[in-house]
Order: sequence, then C-alpha cells, then structure tokens
Amino acid sequence: MVRKPRETFGSRMGMLLAMAGSAIGLGNIWRFPYMMGKNGGAAFILLYVIMLVVLCLPVMVSEYLIGRRGESNPFSSFDRLAPGSKWRWIGFLAVLASACILSFYCVVGGWSVKYLADSCILAFSDEGDYALSFGSFISNPWKPLLYTLIFLALTGAIIVFGVRKGIERMSKVMITMLFVIIVMVVVRSLTLPGAIEGVKYMFVPDFTKVTADTCIAAMGQAFFSLSIGCGTILTYASYVKKDENILASSAWVSFFDTMFAIIAGLAIIPAVYAIAYMNGVEPDVSAGPGLVFITLPGVFSQMPLGNLAAILFFLALLLAAVTSAISLMEVVVAFIIEEMHRSRKKAVALCFLVCGVVGAFCSLSFGPLAGFKLFGLSVFDFFDYITSNIMLPLGGLLLAVFAGWRLRRANFLDELTNSGKLRIPRWLSLTIYYLVKLVAPIGILLIFLNTFFS
Ligand code: PHE
Repeated sequence: MVRKPRETFGSRMGMLLAMAGSAIGLGNIWRFPYMMGKNGGAAFILLYVIMLVVLCLPVMVSEYLIGRRGESNPFSSFDRLAPGSKWRWIGFLAVLASACILSFYCVVGGWSVKYLADSCILAFSDEGDYALSFGSFISNPWKPLLYTLIFLALTGAIIVFGVRKGIERMSKVMITMLFVIIVMVVVRSLTLPGAIEGVKYMFVPDFTKVTADTCIAAMGQAFFSLSIGCGTILTYASYVKKDENILASSAWVSFFDTMFAIIAGLAIIPAVYAIAYMNGVEPDVSAGPGLVFITLPGVFSQMPLGNLAAILFFLALLLAAVTSAISLMEVVVAFIIEEMHRSRKKAVALCFLVCGVVGAFCSLSFGPLAGFKLFGLSVFDFFDYITSNIMLPLGGLLLAVFAGWRLRRANFLDELTNSGKLRIPRWLSLTIYYLVKLVAPIGILLIFLNTFFS
C-alpha cells in the first residue's frame, strides 16, 4: 500500500512552540506552585531539576527519537521499529494514557473557562467566600459539565485543522500571548508591598520538608509537566523533519517548561504572601489544588488593578490548558486516523465523544457521584493518580528501555546525530545513550519500588 506523505511542522520555531505548548499547561500554573508550596519551596525546585536532567531528559529524547524514526502514531511507530513484536501494545497503552489524561484535564480546563468568564464580568471585585463559591460550582451537576464540553470542543476545533494550520499556528499565537500575559501578572504580583517574602520562600530552600515522598512528587510532577510517557512528544516528533536536532529540541523544551513553571510561581506566590501580610494572617501557599481557584480570586479581589490581573491570569491559564489538551487529543486522533482509517473530522468527533463521556464522570465526581469510589478514590482522583503516578513513569520507563535496549546502539546514535551530520561530541551522545539505557530506567524503577514499600 502506498502511504500518503505525512504532514510535517512548517518551521523549527513552530515545532518548538508546539512542543513547549504541550509541556506548558495546568501542570505549570495550577500544579507546580502548590506542589512547591507543600514540598519545601526551593528544595523542591532543586529536586525537580535533578529529576529533569537525570530521568526526564533521557525519556524525552527516547520518545522524540522513536517518533521521528517511526513516523507514525505510537502504536505504528513501535511496530515499524520492531515489526510484529509486542512493543506496539506499549504504543497502544500510550494512546490510552493520553485519552485518560485528556478526560480529567478537560474538567480543570472547563473550570478555567468558567473563571475567565467570571473575571470578565468582574466577579472577583469584592471580598467573598471564594472557597464556598468554588465548592458549589464544581459540585453542581450541570454547570461544570457544560464548561468541560466547551473546553473539549475548543480543543477539537483546533485539531480539526491539522498539524500546520491547527496545532502549529495556534500554538505559536497562544504561547506568545501566554508569555506576554504572564510577565504582566508577574510584574503586578512582585510590585505589591511585602511580595519579597514570597520570593524568598521560593528561592531559599527548606530541606526539612524533603522526604522520600518529595522524590516521588518531584518525579511525577516532572513527567506530567514535560508531557512525557504517554506518546504526545512521540506523536509530535513524527511530524518533525529529519534535519532537526533531537537533543537540542528536547533540552530547549525542558528548559522552557521549567522556566515557565518558575515564572508562574512568581506570578502566584508573592501575591499570596503580600495579601496575607496585608490582612495580618499567615500566607498559605500549600493550599493544594484550590490555590488557583480559591486563594487567588481572594488575592485579586484585594489588590489594585485586581480585576485586570484576574482576567489576564485566567486567560493565561486557559491558553496554557488548551495548548496541552491539543497535544493529548492529537495522540488519540492520529491513532484513529491511521489505525482505524477514519477522516480527521470523524476522528476528532469520536475522541470528543469518548473523552466527553469519561470527562463527565470525572466532573460529576465532585458532585452527584462524590460517593462513588474506585479503589478508594473519586473518579477524578483515580484518573489523575493512575496517569501521573503510574502510567506516565511506567510509559517513560518502557520508552527508555525500548530506545536503549531494543534499538541497536548504532541506530540510536545514528538518529541522535542525524547520521553524523550534527556535530555532537562523541562523549555527549554516549552519555545520553547510557542515561537512556541504564540511568533513567533504574532511577524510575527505584522510585517506583520506594513508593510501593513506603
Ligand atoms: N504537560 C501538561 C501540563 O503541564 C500536561 C500534559 C501531560 C500534557 C501529559 C500532555 C501529556 O499541564
């Protein structure tokens, strides 16, 4: 059978911004600041960076390499590199993981649509009980469901246009806007009186809070934030031209993502400190998932230019969430197009339907289905937990094992250096190879064992 030539990204910048768009998301703005708040501030950042370099960068390189060499969705990419072997089911698992993540991700994406809408009608201009209003919103049976579907439809509307006109074009626009906006919010946050205490909190490490759990938290956060282990980087890489530098792109995306997480922290934590001191109370940045939807509206309501800051902030949150959601949906859509031979439109519709139904269960688990538990967790928490803490690291482990053990060393180095055209020093490519082959798999395994035995 003759295959149609695959679509590719139009430019290097477009490709990098699409990958950065996938990585930068709710994980950076919604998850990172409160994880940092819970786990010792700068101490957590330090651990995170170590995990990033030793475990995540090798996994990202593996995923990128498999995708570019396999030139297909995760299922077929594995099949082409190891024809007829069971490895393709690992690819299938990745597609499944992406669908699961998208299903709960779109719920939080929906919340950000709602909070953006609320900030536009100046809902955060007076002191109110924001914990109560958040609680009553997410436990309402219909409202969050509606916003979830709006978010999912928005994502689908971009994907329908394909790689260049949909993903690449929108990522370029949205990520640029996101940066401009977040910098504005950072300036507002840092110029509040007392903000410096929040900055100190972020950059002076508190090692007393570091425990075995901190390591697991840092690893889970790093995998989730970099979008690795579930085939998104693999799928995007399958649209990348053969002359791109895999190592440089991976390093660039990881760096960009980490910088953004720190910038998002600077937008949130100093503001929380400043307003807490103004009210004479202790700042609480370990407020958990409610930090963004409960604490921040309170902060915005009390600061000068708070209405504008709120609009900008929730717009940033939405942009970040959409660029990540499109990468998740593209994994599933590419699979449906290539394996089930459906048109892009039909594939998007099918994905919308499936993730919409599962997403509905996740959304309802904050309200009418709150009593329904899977292994002791609500449906939302169950999906969040099994994907971030199990599927992503496991996927990452298998991707590294495949790249390090199943591909031959010569092939690995050939792909990494673009058949010797890139002048990557031999010591560096060998270091990467052994990080992929030994260090990353063993490291992930040890952290896994640590979780199960503690
Ligand atoms: N990296 C995204 C974020 O930080 C989430 C994500 C995870 C996206 C896995 C794709 C794959 O929000």
